[in-house]
Amino acid sequence: MLPEKKQILVVDDEANLRRVLSAQLGRDGYEVHTAEDGEEGLAFLKEHHIDLVITDLRMPKVDGMDLLRAALRDDPSRPVVLLTAHGTVDNAVEALKTGAFDYITKPFDQNEVRVVVKKALRTRDLASADATRDVSPAPLRGGSDRFGIIGESPPIQELYAILERVADTPTTVLISGESGTGKELVARALHENSSRRDRPFIKVNCAAIPKDLMESELFGYERGAFTGAVASKPGRFELASGGTLFLDEIGEIPTEMQVKLLRVLQESEFERVGGIKTIHVDVRLVAATNRDLKREIAAGTFREDLFYRLNVVPIALPALRDRRSDIPHLCAHFVAKFNARLKKSIEGIEPEALESLSSHAWPGNIRELENVVERALLFADGARIRLDDLPEEIRSGATSTPGASLPPAAADTALAPSTPDGLKEQVKAAMSKLERDLIERALKQTHGNVTHAARLLKISRKGLQLKMKELNLRERDPE
Ligand SMILES: Nc1ncnc2c1ncn2[C@@H]1O[C@H](COP(=O)(O)OP(=O)(O)OP(=O)(O)O)[C@@H](O)[C@H]1O
Ligand SMILES: [Mg+2]
Repeated sequence: MLPEKKQILVVDDEANLRRVLSAQLGRDGYEVHTAEDGEEGLAFLKEHHIDLVITDLRMPKVDGMDLLRAALRDDPSRPVVLLTAHGTVDNAVEALKTGAFDYITKPFDQNEVRVVVKKALRTRDLASADATRDVSPAPLRGGSDRFGIIGESPPIQELYAILERVADTPTTVLISGESGTGKELVARALHENSSRRDRPFIKVNCAAIPKDLMESELFGYERGAFTGAVASKPGRFELASGGTLFLDEIGEIPTEMQVKLLRVLQESEFERVGGIKTIHVDVRLVAATNRDLKREIAAGTFREDLFYRLNVVPIALPALRDRRSDIPHLCAHFVAKFNARLKKSIEGIEPEALESLSSHAWPGNIRELENVVERALLFADGARIRLDDLPEEIRSGATSTPGASLPPAAADTALAPSTPDGLKEQVKAAMSKLERDLIERALKQTHGNVTHAARLLKISRKGLQLKMKELNLRERDPE
């Protein structure tokens, strides 16, 4: 059994700081442990279950960077947050590159600590609910699986050709595609295959940042720029200097910010919030969206001039149902991946099961396929994955309408007595659809806050997370 409270380890050689952080985090409902230096911290990690590590950077014996590396080796999905004395960009960049979740500059602001801790623990929850998320290693350069992207279908061949041509250029790329089609994978592939690969790859999820924090998050702020700005802090653009900035879910960016972004794109310069100095950066921008930006332009919510600036090289990722011939390759890839991760030795997939997998509609695209293969591997007790190891909706083909683009709506299902599905299957499909709609509505109403949505739906948070995973609904980062 895991302890009920989240366990945080604070490592710092200053007793005062340990005391202040422990008191604050304790008040916020966490169980806090402390260590005086990296060595003691590491020893503690070996013996105890810890959900989040907060560590000072400069310490005697084992320093924060060493602790970070060792902690990540031990458990790559456990977030580590660094405390840095003056928030020097170099240290912060180095830490983020090594895999730190975020950093906080000293002297710190209580609210900042609260936000970062919450965000880090949320990511941790997601990572354990979906072991494949955010902890998957960056794709290998080159190699037989070309950019870490699997597929042989014509659209993927075309993608390879584009990547080869544009990866090592400073050109802005706009990646579009449904959820789970590999947008982030492609963004990382662009970075890894450019001469910027040794510089930072910084990701910003535009949907996760509250509107009024967006500017300071992207461009940084000077001390005293607003209440709580007790020290200056570089923004994501500065952190990405010399490297790549990945603006995920760009369609969510508020209109005021669009103007500011446009200026950086045009002039490669900006000012920190509350700052007067103009900062020049060399950053390669990659943006992604699962929205139809042309439609947003027509609706007046996305600036046309910004769109053209971003859309220099468009990459549209196909839905998995539009490249079904890749399904067997992807399955083989994921079987190998999860064999290694779960210490299994599944040899492959029975033809019947593969047929089911190949005809499913895959509304959650490759992420959904990946989850299904992982689950099947866990269930499989034979040498190969059998039809029985697959979830009911894939076995029964509840959403398998080959060639169709979406699972049948509840109404369609109910009105289609001539389909081969029996009453039970139809009811089941209709129920899933209803469940999905209700959950999506609750999440929308609570701006993606799972805890609040669960309360609205009168189920537990864990229960909602499980349901969301089952229905392949993505959890948004907290705001
Ligand atoms: N062509 C591919 N080959 C191998 N793995 C892939 C491929 N495309 C996607 N994946 C895997 O599928 C998962 C989802 O991909 P990714 O996170 O890049 O999607 P996304 O388009 O950013 O999704 P979202 O819109 O939900 O953020 C990841 O684990 C990724 O590694
Ligand atoms: Mg993504």
